[in-house]
Amino acid sequence: MNKLKNSLTADEKALFNEWMKKRKELAEDSLKECLDRLFAEKQMIHEVMTYAVYNGGKRLRPILVFEGAAIAGAELKKVIPAACAMEMIHCYSLVHDDLPAMDDDDYRRGKLSCHKAFGEDMAILAGDALLTGAFELLATMPCQNDEDRIRLLQVIGEIASAAGSAGMVSGQVLDLKSEGQNIDHAELQHLHALKTGKLFLASLRAGAILGGLEPAGLQKLTDYAENFGLAFQITDDILDVIGDELEVGKPIGSDAKNSKTTYTSLYGLDKAKALAEKSVQACIENLKGFGEEADFLRYLAYYLLSRTS
Ligand code: IPE
Ligand code: IPE
Ligand code: MG
Ligand code: MG
Ligand code: MG
Repeated sequence: MNKLKNSLTADEKALFNEWMKKRKELAEDSLKECLDRLFAEKQMIHEVMTYAVYNGGKRLRPILVFEGAAIAGAELKKVIPAACAMEMIHCYSLVHDDLPAMDDDDYRRGKLSCHKAFGEDMAILAGDALLTGAFELLATMPCQNDEDRIRLLQVIGEIASAAGSAGMVSGQVLDLKSEGQNIDHAELQHLHALKTGKLFLASLRAGAILGGLEPAGLQKLTDYAENFGLAFQITDDILDVIGDELEVGKPIGSDAKNSKTTYTSLYGLDKAKALAEKSVQACIENLKGFGEEADFLRYLAYYLLSRTS
């Protein structure tokens, strides 16, 4: 199934919604299992971390970890700690992103943002603990043999790099430093690739590597994830302009308030939508050579074009 089109049929949409529901349930159950383990010895900060994690996120990053493993033909159970680690890193990035020193946003996922609910000090520390807790989960992942251990080490390295100064953190730096500045297409694309793309890339690759996918397949998924991350952040920029605040669960107009350069500020809505479509078509192209086992990833790419949250 290698089609080039702009949306799913009604039947495909129904199937996708069913798949998505199941994968999201798996992500939620896995998070509960992993956090219960991490929180075995009770600490005050756990309440803040819990608030930051259990609040209606779409769970796209753990879903991508599971999908990478599924395509590799591995048991999904095997990658549960990696899936949870990616969601914890993502949640930490959101807690810090909303802080007054960064985007200064009061709402996240339809609730007060973490610093509004617990204070800036606790929000910063909860973010720190989510990031380090993610690596604790990874480091204590069960391995059956040396091959598993070698793959896990590679994955830990890739996730650290994607989250740190070679990835998300530097994307956030560029995002903040370019407030009120004129940046061009290449700079904006680079910013998006680091800020948002790297965590998606690390998620899909983590699942695929831990699952033992062969190099040619891994390369296709790598290309897909890069285009997916770009399409995702373009649609995030679009939702910041035309989204419904209740559905999106975060303040609309935050980017304009902070004079960010986004795909919509640079190109206007129509061109931004066309660029998102182009990236989604590239995602579909990248999956050529895979069969039905990649249908969920194909549908997930199309879903970006109609997402409302
Ligand atoms: C929001 O990510 C932050 C960006 C990278 C644009 P999501 O839209 O995936 O946030 P949740 O986890 O579903 O709330
Ligand atoms: C933030 O991008 C991405 C990260 C948290 C790394 P945005 O600032 O656009 O995310 P939202 O719109 O606040 O979710
Ligand atoms: Mg931001
Ligand atoms: Mg923000
Ligand atoms: Mg945004």
